[in-house]
Amino acid sequence: MNIIIRNSNNGKANGRIKVSGDKSISHRALLIGAIARGLTVIKGYSQGGDCRSTLNCLRQLGIDIGIYDDRIEINGKGLRGFNEPANILDCGNSGTTMRLLSGLLCGQNITTVLTGDDSLRNRPMKRVIEPLTKMNARIWSRVGSRAPLSIQGNILKAIDYTLPVASAQVKSALIFAGMLTDGITTIEEPVLTRDHTERMLIEFGADLERNGNKVKIKPDVCLNGHELLIPGDISSAAFFIVLASILPGGSITIQKTGINPTRIGIIDAMRSMGADIKFENADEQCCEPVADLTVKARTLRAIEIKGEIVPRLIDELPIIAVAATQAQGTTRVSDAGELRVKETDRIKAIVQGLQKMGAAILEQEDGFIVDGPCKLRGVVCQSYNDHRIAMALAIAGLIAEGETVIQNAECIDISFPEFMQLIRRVCGENAIGISE
Ligand code: S3P
Repeated sequence: MNIIIRNSNNGKANGRIKVSGDKSISHRALLIGAIARGLTVIKGYSQGGDCRSTLNCLRQLGIDIGIYDDRIEINGKGLRGFNEPANILDCGNSGTTMRLLSGLLCGQNITTVLTGDDSLRNRPMKRVIEPLTKMNARIWSRVGSRAPLSIQGNILKAIDYTLPVASAQVKSALIFAGMLTDGITTIEEPVLTRDHTERMLIEFGADLERNGNKVKIKPDVCLNGHELLIPGDISSAAFFIVLASILPGGSITIQKTGINPTRIGIIDAMRSMGADIKFENADEQCCEPVADLTVKARTLRAIEIKGEIVPRLIDELPIIAVAATQAQGTTRVSDAGELRVKETDRIKAIVQGLQKMGAAILEQEDGFIVDGPCKLRGVVCQSYNDHRIAMALAIAGLIAEGETVIQNAECIDISFPEFMQLIRRVCGENAIGISE
């Protein structure tokens, strides 16, 4: 599917919207609901393809999950309650599904095979295989530690482990595996990454201790089913935060959005660029802070992004690149080499897409450099089958002169199926459509 985007530079990017549930938190709600005892009810969950992958894998593992209009109900079977599936588990495009599930599967008394789409089968799995193997896990992969992965359940042992890369997926996989050992597992991360797993496990009754960048997890604690209302996804809201900031006359409120400190690097970065972002109606949902975010158009200035903030905005760097094309001065992003091993090589993809639109953006080994502000022009771009690249270029299309076409944009469904509908809501019916 190709989509067409028309310049919306008539000052219309206004309205109140609500984005659907946070993808990272929804994955965790499904997985933790499955290993808890009793009923877990999840409201406001992410309807995207990635979370469907997790849900389908769990059903194949024998977990009873009911899908209703307004909620998902999971009948959890406890820490070691999975049945051996009769077929391979398809994690689709979702690295979170494959990595987090690996942590749970290696300590079950079953054998499983995990695969995924072309993108996922080319993503690095050594980062989970290596530490899980130290815990006695038995995992086989293709050459270069690529999926499919075959996991034969084993008795696991606790370890002390320092992550070589900042990755919440790896941290979470090890926390899950740590719950299936016979001792205390300690995990240290080089830089603090999203802490949704830790928050939710504590809420469900896990014996988990946190101290700075260290997490200690005790095994064999009985988790109890819960009712959860998932906060709006800050990574989806990010597209509207940037849109409202760069479109003259823009003013958008995004209700009930997650503002977990480990996720809001985008807010900190945009504020440093001069963006006007206000938090109102602060509240708590699902042991996570939420607020209504109101964003108004402002003249932006360039900034430097590197170091500790990077994991807190890693998924938002493509849309930050779009903001940087409209900011005064030179924006430099470094320490973001992880972007090269996401759903696609996001450094190459965003640089090529924005260059085609006329932006002065240059690829660097671990980031990019953008000279702004510059006028963008509508062109035909590739999504690289990456949802965040497709949406970032669509936002660029709304400020570009003429029409922009994004090819293979069906990938938007992975995290944000209602993206086009919400763009029409704030920019008008003609702003975005399906191209012939
Ligand atoms: C995620 C962690 C991040 C992020 C991904 C979701 C998670 O990946 O990029 O979109 O839900 O834990 P890494 O763990 O590879 O950094």
